Amino acid sequence: MRFSIGVVLLTPFLSRLVASDGGGGGNALAQFALDKILQEGRDVFGDFDESSSSSPLTTTTTSSSAFSEVFTHGYSRHARWMAALPDSIPLTHLNIPGTHDAATWNYTQSTQDNLATATRCDGTVARPARVYRCQRKSIVSSLEAGIRFFDLRFALDPLDARLAFWHGPAYLSAVATLEDVLFGFYGWLDSHPSEMVLLSLQYESGTRSNATSDEGVQRKLFDALTSRLARRYVHQARGVLGTLGDVRGKIVLFRRFDLDKLPVEYEERMPGLHMSPAKWIDNDKTGFELVYNETIGNGSAYVEDYYHPDGFDTIPANIDAKFDAVSTHLKQAAEGDLGHLFVTFTSGTHVEVDPPVYPDVMALGSGGGGLGALGPTAVRGVNSRLLELLGEMKGRRLGVVVMDFFEEPGGLVDLLLGF
Ligand SMILES: *[C@@H]1O[C@H](CO)[C@@H](O)[C@H](O)[C@H]1NC(C)=O
Ligand SMILES: *[C@@H]1O[C@H](CO)[C@@H](O)[C@H](O)[C@H]1NC(C)=O
Ligand SMILES: *[C@@H]1O[C@H](CO)[C@@H](O)[C@H](O)[C@H]1NC(C)=O
Ligand SMILES: *[C@@H]1O[C@H](CO)[C@@H](O)[C@H](O)[C@H]1NC(C)=O
Repeated sequence: MRFSIGVVLLTPFLSRLVASDGGGGGNALAQFALDKILQEGRDVFGDFDESSSSSPLTTTTTSSSAFSEVFTHGYSRHARWMAALPDSIPLTHLNIPGTHDAATWNYTQSTQDNLATATRCDGTVARPARVYRCQRKSIVSSLEAGIRFFDLRFALDPLDARLAFWHGPAYLSAVATLEDVLFGFYGWLDSHPSEMVLLSLQYESGTRSNATSDEGVQRKLFDALTSRLARRYVHQARGVLGTLGDVRGKIVLFRRFDLDKLPVEYEERMPGLHMSPAKWIDNDKTGFELVYNETIGNGSAYVEDYYHPDGFDTIPANIDAKFDAVSTHLKQAAEGDLGHLFVTFTSGTHVEVDPPVYPDVMALGSGGGGLGALGPTAVRGVNSRLLELLGEMKGRRLGVVVMDFFEEPGGLVDLLLGF
């Protein structure tokens, strides 16, 4: 049973082994167990080994292109950008770069083809992989590049056995479970104790026919997020966003899920900000206020998540409509009350029109192969326009900015962080 691996790490027997171990068996066993879990989470979290090589305690470089890039551009600056900030700064004052549908980074056509057998029981025909893919950098690579908000979508796997990652009917890995990926975050935070991560978890509907966030799903989720281990890494405050000093080395949950199928005590024991799906206005163009805590004056978030510009037929019209929503919301964030959280999604898609506006087309444009040599018919994507806007808004509080393909064009994270 997969979960038992996590449990093994926590048993008194093994901790005794590790504690009394003089460099032999116990440590090795714990290390192997952790390695196994990280290996299983790799399809979604990425290769953890690559990150540890960027620890300032080691001087080894890595052959991985993603990481040598981080290296040559100064890993410590991006991988530890929060280290430079005072403990007393409220989280709502920060600009926090984020990734939308972070688990889709390796969802290529060959991934989809390889998983066809695993998903056959779902009864739906998935559209081409490009429809679902929103990133190219793994989660660990994104962490090293400065991303601190991750949008993850979970549901039960096709056998109803474990919580896995999906984007609609696209099943993203037959191996990685939510718990495996949480271990990845825990490990990364251990080696980057100055940093914090806002983790958005959302129940993904539209996976298999008739799948819903039922009692079984909610119980598994509750167990994963409140285990003894999780309580060490998940910040335990409920419904408040404090200062950076309160949450260094921790995950703050951004809960886009309800526990409404469980007794009310479960909800009361769940930490984090409850961004209830019932209050999240779907595809709202102007942005909405979501009150996650009615009892405090600043317990609301302002959110723009206009991901599907309906009524626009062409690629430029879709990009214009999305970018208008983004720039309007970022201006509101810059002028808004510093005590409130602002979250702006720059991601969007509209694949029902012809030619389709895939997520990469929305973010990177079309006609010029995305980045680089832009031909005469090229259309600029949201990201290149965002780069310009961020340049104009330098130094302003923008809040959380959640992007697709965030590394293209280069400089988006740098501008958000004021580098
Ligand atoms: C990405 O997916 C492909 C195809 O499924 C797989 O062979 C490869 O190992 C994956 N890459 C990583 C870094 O996980
Ligand atoms: C889904 O639910 C419908 C209506 O209850 C039922 O007819 C159908 O067989 C179900 N599909 C699956 C795959 O269970
Ligand atoms: C709202 O904030 C108060 C004060 O920190 C806290 O005690 C309470 O549990 C929070 N309520 C919710 C629903 O998160
Ligand atoms: C939000 O309100 C709480 C409770 O009133 C207060 O302690 C906290 O400092 C406020 N946060 C910000 C960033 O203003």
